[in-house]
Amino acid sequence: MDSLLIKGGVRLEGEVSVSGAKNACLPMFAAALLTDEKCVLKNVPDLSDVRFMAEIVGELGAEVSNPSKGVWEICAKEVSHIAPYELVRKMRASICLLGPLCARMRRAEVSLPGGCVIGARPVDLHIKGLKALNCAVEIERGYIVVDARKMRGANIYLGGRFGSTVTGTANVVMAAVLAPGTTVIENAACEPEIADLCRMLVKMGALIEGAGTPAITITGVPKLGGTEHSVMPDRIEAGTWMAAALASRGKVLIKGAQKKYLGSFLDILERAECPIEIKSANSIYIDAGSFKLKPVEAITLPYPGLPTDLQAQICALMTQADGISIITERIYPERFMHVPELARMGANISREGPSAIICGKTKLSGAPIMASDLRASAALVIAALAASGQTQIHRIYHLDRGYDSIDAKLAALGAKVERVKNPG
Ligand code: EPZ
Repeated sequence: MDSLLIKGGVRLEGEVSVSGAKNACLPMFAAALLTDEKCVLKNVPDLSDVRFMAEIVGELGAEVSNPSKGVWEICAKEVSHIAPYELVRKMRASICLLGPLCARMRRAEVSLPGGCVIGARPVDLHIKGLKALNCAVEIERGYIVVDARKMRGANIYLGGRFGSTVTGTANVVMAAVLAPGTTVIENAACEPEIADLCRMLVKMGALIEGAGTPAITITGVPKLGGTEHSVMPDRIEAGTWMAAALASRGKVLIKGAQKKYLGSFLDILERAECPIEIKSANSIYIDAGSFKLKPVEAITLPYPGLPTDLQAQICALMTQADGISIITERIYPERFMHVPELARMGANISREGPSAIICGKTKLSGAPIMASDLRASAALVIAALAASGQTQIHRIYHLDRGYDSIDAKLAALGAKVERVKNPG
């Protein structure tokens, strides 16, 4: 398993371009199963999760090719309705195969995804949504087994105790687009990635209104066609680079950082008195030479609230703030794997229930640390940039799941970084 060596104390300088959004493109691979015509996805990030999803869709019978960087072609003339455990266990986002298989095949068998280090990952709302569409759903042998032959449109309230569900909304939308009748989803996920998926579905011939709002209306159609779609930039990667530029006191232009999708994060950085310059609708400039970072209180919430996927990165940054920050996690209350690792680097950070309490400013020192999940790993990179000395981050396959060419992008910004290959 590879590790990343980072020598801290180097200010990032230059320009970085954000890749396509992981959480937008993964359901788009599943959406391509809704038609027997070719779908072409562009601006797809080069991630292990993307390669996994392509492999799974291929195993289900689609012809999948990657003719050039960032371009994937999927043509599902024939499709199996069974997504086996051996494939689904590799990546829980494959749960979003459920909706398209129900729509296209009128039946589905998708392995229940496991949990993960950020917490239990239930799918009760996915099942609730399919049952509301008049599907018969059973849990058998660790599989979600769906008979969708009588599927029809319905009114569905899809909120749960943590609010809306992103992939749950994706699944219900992708089932409903081929279900006779009209479906209204209340408390739908408003994440921009859902709106991007719906843009692709509409280009395929789906009838969808309200994408990106809490109420999505879908009118079923008999068939969908192929399309070509360019994936939106990754707002979470953009936020990660912003935090890295601030923590390293660098001067960085982040191209692809779309202000319209980063409102809650920009609000926190503004409260922390960060020097943020909105250069254009799609680029943000940070010159963090000598500003004084202020502590903040922040709470993660469904979009447009603060993304849970930026919580760990904010914790890492706030170790450099003068004062006490309180970062509360309302989506995944267990999502604090970064806390003990940041503490190993000298951060004064502790977990109090659903919150991390960070007493800054602390001098961080490089150390051997362990990546545990995608965004916690990003937080460790940010801390390593701010630390003195060398940090070795082990198990960086977590990073490779969600950040395209992160070491190359860091090096291009002047970071002293080396990927250490470890065949073990
Ligand atoms: C998506 O996961 C993202 N993944 C996650 O990004 C992201 O953290 C999450 O949304 C929240 O924004 C993809 O899009 C591939 P949810 P998802 O269903 O859809 C609870 C990353 O780092 N819930 O919106 O699985 C759930 O436990 C990843 O890029 C139920 O209770 O998340 C959580 O507390 C990590 N029942 C909350 O809702 C359900 O049936 C939000 O989950 C479904 C979810």
